[in-house]
Amino acid sequence: MKLVYSAAVLSVFSLALLPTGASAQVPGEPTFADDIAPIFYESCVNCHRAGEIAPMSLISYQDARPWARSIKNKVETRAMPPWHLDRDIGVQDFLNDPSLTDDQIATIVKWVDAGAPQGNPANTPAPPEFAPSDAWQIGEPDLVVQFPAYEVPAAGPDLFGDLFTNFGLTEDRYITAIQTKPVGDKARQVVHHALSYAVEQDESGERMGGGQFLVEYASGKQAEVYPEGTGLKLSADTEARLSYHLHSVGEPIDAVVELGINFLPAGTEPEHIRYSKQLAGSHGQTIGVLDLPAGAVSRSDGYARFNKAAKITMFQPHMHMLGTYQCIEFIYPTQPVRAETVNCASFDYNWHMNYNYSKDSMPLIPAGTILHTSTWFDNSAGNRGNLDANNWIGAGQRTIDEMGFAWIGWYDMTDEEYEAEVATRHEARERTDEEN
Ligand code: HEC
Repeated sequence: MKLVYSAAVLSVFSLALLPTGASAQVPGEPTFADDIAPIFYESCVNCHRAGEIAPMSLISYQDARPWARSIKNKVETRAMPPWHLDRDIGVQDFLNDPSLTDDQIATIVKWVDAGAPQGNPANTPAPPEFAPSDAWQIGEPDLVVQFPAYEVPAAGPDLFGDLFTNFGLTEDRYITAIQTKPVGDKARQVVHHALSYAVEQDESGERMGGGQFLVEYASGKQAEVYPEGTGLKLSADTEARLSYHLHSVGEPIDAVVELGINFLPAGTEPEHIRYSKQLAGSHGQTIGVLDLPAGAVSRSDGYARFNKAAKITMFQPHMHMLGTYQCIEFIYPTQPVRAETVNCASFDYNWHMNYNYSKDSMPLIPAGTILHTSTWFDNSAGNRGNLDANNWIGAGQRTIDEMGFAWIGWYDMTDEEYEAEVATRHEARERTDEEN
């Protein structure tokens, strides 16, 4: 056993010593230059390059080679690129699915098993060109609002609170795309997450409640572009609120966060108002009550009723460190009752993934449908994200507390619109069935 082990170490060593371009290559075996670089450039280097969020670059052969084993593991288990939707259950058609194909995964595995050869370096394609990492993903926004800077000290507890600023609108507008982002790499390190809201004021100028939710910034989370024909109303008399969660990283940093918004042209209204809300946490509340005994895996369920017919555009599971998996199910208002699991997804706190349904896969639900979330938490020592398996954990705002709800994006439909869309989908399906 010992011999085999040292032989393996030796072979890795000797490969590393080979001059560039001279790695042994068997015909028909995938090489970095011909087969792997094109996959990495399409699916990985957006994050895996200098100055971006991933821990290492995958641009050059020299960058990638030391990671071959880990790469094989992460693509085989589909941990990378991050997309944690359960592929065996429910809807699989999404706008923003970055997953590798089975063929691409097989190619990468074959490459690693062959000793990760480079091939002819001259065949390596040119790496893609990138926009600056803090560029807007929604194009140049129609409106950019900047929240006041928050000075995060070098060390200290997590910081929670609100910052306010004016939108400066003179008339009501409808949002079509929106993104929040910290300004610069330094701010990006300290902004754990940040939620933006539009808050109304009463006649005396007092703020009324927490406001209408607009968009979330969290690591790994992208801009939101609303489906065509939909928009979110932003009233002229509202103020922007940023609900922040910041943390110290060893040096004092000024955290500045910006909100970029695109609107429909002034004076126009969308066909449908788009909603995005935290739904169906335990006891039907956002935070609710969670009872997660020490050392155990437990599950929590939540429900929310849709009073109108709706088209579901987006699903995002939300948990904290102990959350591992969530399913969303629709319970239809039929007799006998019928229920359907629409999607399930694993959860990793490093990633707050938005699953945006493609146009023809957006679930249609009749008025009176109940959304049911089932959320699993692992408070055992087996969960690597668990800081202390000896502690009971409950629901709360802090990272070490738990949450278990779903962000759902949707728009309401009239019963007539719902019936018409269902009929159109049926016809389309019958046509495809006939063709097949
Ligand atoms: C959206 C950004 C993003 C994309 C796209 C992405 N990665 Fe990653 N990757 C990360 C981040 C961040 C980490 C570290 C945190 C984690 O593991 O979740 C990581 C970790 C890894 C690791 C583990 C490194 C270690 O410490 O062992 C490997 C291997 C990896 N990625 C390979 C890939 C490959 C191969 C692709 C493309 C097929 C890819 N990644 C696509 C962001 C990304």
